[in-house]
Formats: sequence, structure tokens, C-alpha cells
Amino acid sequence: MKKNCFIGGQWVEASVYAPLYSPYSGEEIAQIPQADPETVQKAIDAAEEATAVMRRMPAYQRAAILEKMSLLMDERLEEAARIIALEAGKPIKTARGEVIRTIQTYKFAAEEAKRIHGETLPLDAAIGGEGRLAYTVREPLGVIGAITPFNFPMNLVAHKVGPALAAGNAVVLKPASQTPLSAFFLAEIAEQAGAPAGALNVVTGSGASVGDLLVKDPRVKALTFTGSPAVGIDIRNRAGLKRVTLELGSNSAVIIDKDVNVDEVIPRCIFGAFAYSGQVCISVQRIYVVKDRFEEFVTKFVAETKKLRGGDSLSEEADYSAMINPRETERAVNWIEEAKQNGARVECGGEVVDRMLQPTVLTGVPADAKVSCQEVFGPVVLVNAVESVQEAIGLVNDSRYGLQAGLYTNNLSLALQAADELHVGGVMINDIPTFRVDHMPYGGVKESGMGREGVKYAIEELTELKLVVVKK
Ligand code: SIN
Repeated sequence: MKKNCFIGGQWVEASVYAPLYSPYSGEEIAQIPQADPETVQKAIDAAEEATAVMRRMPAYQRAAILEKMSLLMDERLEEAARIIALEAGKPIKTARGEVIRTIQTYKFAAEEAKRIHGETLPLDAAIGGEGRLAYTVREPLGVIGAITPFNFPMNLVAHKVGPALAAGNAVVLKPASQTPLSAFFLAEIAEQAGAPAGALNVVTGSGASVGDLLVKDPRVKALTFTGSPAVGIDIRNRAGLKRVTLELGSNSAVIIDKDVNVDEVIPRCIFGAFAYSGQVCISVQRIYVVKDRFEEFVTKFVAETKKLRGGDSLSEEADYSAMINPRETERAVNWIEEAKQNGARVECGGEVVDRMLQPTVLTGVPADAKVSCQEVFGPVVLVNAVESVQEAIGLVNDSRYGLQAGLYTNNLSLALQAADELHVGGVMINDIPTFRVDHMPYGGVKESGMGREGVKYAIEELTELKLVVVKK
């Protein structure tokens, strides 16, 4: 199956194509165009041209297009889920959940398109400000370069494309090399929903070369990127005065206090640690259990982990499948090995069976092991005992990252103290850090990124505040 780039409302052939392989079977599933620099320029030209149409389009029309995208996605839910399962190796049950969220994200974007507004300002609060009417408006930035990851190929794209179009921008989308089919599917939907030619352009190929052109081109006014800290920091360093939103990694943690019902907490912790084999930025990577409950927690958690079933991502039975590629699988195995050599105990998993790294639980992991202090992005979780919630807060904060953190406790003042002290973008009390619904602000501190997504917040990142002052 040969695919083409989508530029200015046309499907454009490339001179070079590369095979795309299924993460689970290793079989070729498509031929993907490798855009050359001229093709990327054409996509930016098309987006630049479309900005004139988009910026004049009334809010109700932008909302109607996004609403239609949401409806069309709903009609093709099963097809969308199968695309994700096939190209990302995401178990079909989990992929359906992603599509349901994507439908909502476009719906939120449609709703927010109608609520973009500024405010009036009492300029007479300053000496010399009297006799003037002042108000702000939010204007679209123009061309937005969106660079998206493989792990949520529909919904993390929606978090960039939805707010950008809602605000009247045009987009050049560079999807992850492993998940271009979801982006082509979206282009079909946007076209069918009546998005003007050039409002959404999809270019595929090498991340370094396409991404580099988006970073360098002065017509691209903002870059919105989700991916690794190394790439994100590089983009930020080279972006000059462009707006930059970065959603980067994390080694997210959850703290379990001594007074909680372990049986209630464990299913959420299993989901947080192993959904999509831990390839989620807010995946539970570190669990700190107050020592009185540690043995009970580990015994029950390991027993539940062993019940998870691996298999073909298209199979209804699979809870987990192969990681995104063999290189990443090998890296995760090496990190497990390093932790073992430094004293960690493998309670279960740790082996690769039929290309799939089994869900792995480690205990007694030193804080400087890679599985603790770097982002594993794989099905590996550590469970360590702590003296107190206070000690655990210190361990959570002792990280380069700060995306989200969770704390289970029945002690209200301890919960509020943790909410104050945890240095992260989002604190989840009585839940795992893996909680996300699509209209909440989402983003991190430290190396977890800058700026916020969550449709309304992303619109703020993708618009310019203009002040108008009228002298009476
Ligand atoms: C991410 O991996 O950053 C996205 C997590 C989510 O949307 O649930």
C-alpha cells in the first residue's frame, strides 16, 4: 500500500518511499513517502497561503469543521483503532480508547473555537490612562509546525491540530516515522470535513530533515512538539523567536500511603505501569510504598501483573504487545540488566518472548539506576519501600523530570501538603499520574517540557494577544 503526502488539499507523490513495518509481526504494512526539502517547502507555502483564509474564517465555521472531524472520526472509529494497532503495536482495546479520546478532543476544539476572546482593561487605573477604551483580542499566529510522537498517533496529533485550527491557524504536520498512517487518515477526515486546502498539510520522512526545515523556516511561527527531551531542547535552542510548546518525557511516580486499601489501588497501578507497554509520558515508572504496606503491595501487584496477556496488537485478547521497535526493546532490557547488577530484584518479567518484553516489576532499585532516574518508556516499573510520604515526596522531586505525580492517602492535610510540595505540572490525589482527560491543562516542569496542552491551554499557546486602545 503506497501512501502520499497531503499538501494544499492534494495527495502528492514523492520520489523516494520507505517501507513501514508492523512492530508486532515485523511485516511490511505500507510504503511511506520520504519528503525532500522542496516538498516540505511546498507544504509550508500551502499552509502560508491558507492562513489568509483561516484567519478570516468566522469562529462558527471553524467550529463546524472541527465538529465534523469529530463526527467522521466517530463513524470510522474501528478503522482508526485498527490503524493505530497496526502501525503503533498498541493493543486494539487500548487503541479504541485512544480514538474515543480523539473524538472528544476534536469536539473540545470545536467548542473552544467559539470561546476565544480577550478582555477589556481599566486603563484609568494608571495615572495618564484615563479617557481610553482598551481591550485585547487573540489572533492566530499563522503557520504552525506540529511534530508528533508514535505513542498516541491520533490523539496527540489532535491536541496540536485541533487547537491550531480552532484558533484560525494552518498546520504543517510531521508525524512520527513509525505512525504516518494515522496522520494520513486524519488528512482524509479533515478534507471531508471541509477544511480549506492548505489548512492541514501532512509531510512524512526523516524526522531530522523535515523537522529541521520546520524549525528553520521563518514563515513557521510556532512549533509544537511532543517527544524526547533531547530533541525538544534542541528545537528550543534553534527556534529563535518562534513560539515553542514542548511536551517531553518523565519518570512519573505514585506514592502509596499506609492507610489506603491496597486492593483498590492495584488495578489502577497496573494500568498506569503497563498500558501500551509503558510507552506513555505519564506512565507509572516508580511506585513508593510506605513500609508497613510494602510486602502486601508487592505480593498483590506482582500476582496481578502476571495475569496480563501478551499478543498480536490486533487481537482482542492482548493486554500488551511488542514495543515500538527491537532497538527500544533491547535498550529497556539493558536498563533492567543494569538495575539488577546494582542490586535490584526482578519480581517478574524481564524477558523478551516473541518480540514482546514482558511486564517487569523490580524492587530494591537504587535511585541512580537508569530505570529510576531516566525515562524507561517501556513495560518496567520499580516498587520501593519508603519510611514516610514525606520521604517519597523528596524522591519524586529528585528527578530531571516533572510531568505528573500521584499520591494515594486518606490523610487530607498530607494530600494538600504533597500538592504544594510536588514539583510537577499536575498532582493527582488518590489516583495515578497516568490520569488525563483531554480538556485539562497538561504539561510539565524541568525537562518534562514547557507550555501546556489541553485544548483551551494550547489555544493560548497558539495565539497572539493584541491590545487595542481607543482614545475617546
Ligand atoms: C503522553 O504520552 O504524553 C500522552 C498521555 C495521554 O494523553 O494520556
